[in-house]
Amino acid sequence: MAGSPPLCWVVLVVCLLGFAGAGNLNKELEITWGGGRAKIVNGGRMLTLSLDKGSGSGFQSRNQYLFGKIDMQIKLVAGNSAGTVTTYYLRSEKSKWDEIDFEFLGNLSGEPYIVHTNIYTQGKGDREQQFYLWFDPTADFHTYSFLWNPQTIIFYVDGTPIREFKNMESLGIPFPKRQPMRLQSSLWNADHWATRGGRVKTDWSNAPFTAAYRNMNADRTCIWPSSSCSSSKDHSWLSQRLDSAGHRKLKWVRRNYMVYDYCADSKRFPHGLPPECNV
Ligand SMILES: *[C@@H]1O[C@H](CO)[C@@H](O)[C@H](O)[C@H]1NC(C)=O
Repeated sequence: MAGSPPLCWVVLVVCLLGFAGAGNLNKELEITWGGGRAKIVNGGRMLTLSLDKGSGSGFQSRNQYLFGKIDMQIKLVAGNSAGTVTTYYLRSEKSKWDEIDFEFLGNLSGEPYIVHTNIYTQGKGDREQQFYLWFDPTADFHTYSFLWNPQTIIFYVDGTPIREFKNMESLGIPFPKRQPMRLQSSLWNADHWATRGGRVKTDWSNAPFTAAYRNMNADRTCIWPSSSCSSSKDHSWLSQRLDSAGHRKLKWVRRNYMVYDYCADSKRFPHGLPPECNV
């Protein structure tokens, strides 16, 4: 059996490696609901969620994480997506839960999506910030990332920070760091609030609505309850913070793309803004 392996063997081995490798979503994710509307396709390289009048669909990570930097490429529902919401978030399971949310609110064709974000600590949220994007999120895949470490939580879009929630425990503000969280995602109908505050309803003649996911990177995570943080040697994300370039980008996003900031909504908080808003 000397000599170079026949081409068919090389192809087979490459394919098997590809299937079992880091790019395989079957390894990281499991479908949780939707009666067949959620699918992992292309040998594990892509996941699609769909929504029709009967139901939406969803998935979650197999692992729970206690800190991590997780990237996912998502292509959102195209065309008339008004009334639909694609959620992508981390959440713990206890009744006083922690949660870090991206929610993508659909719109009529050609009208802008809104990226809705929120942070819950010990069951309390009410920390919404919303943004438009500087690109069409339905035309191609873009990378949406969480950085969650003991010092800070940062939301990124294509590597640009759009929101930071620092650890302000020294000021008595709870920070998520004691409960592991699982990645969750869903596509569902929320036309009672999603688009223009619920005024634009889902047009079911466009169903099924579909969102796609690929290239998940969860290499930089602390998988709970194992004590070590990821197999890679690079642990710099565990102490990463926004540097000055990051602060400049965050300001650019806030100045040009911010739609709503709870910290600027004094009407909603007549007895004073939440304490983290005054830092
Ligand atoms: C939808 O488009 C309208 C009109 O451009 C805009 O006011 C709204 O913020 C957009 N997004 C959502 C989710 O309603």
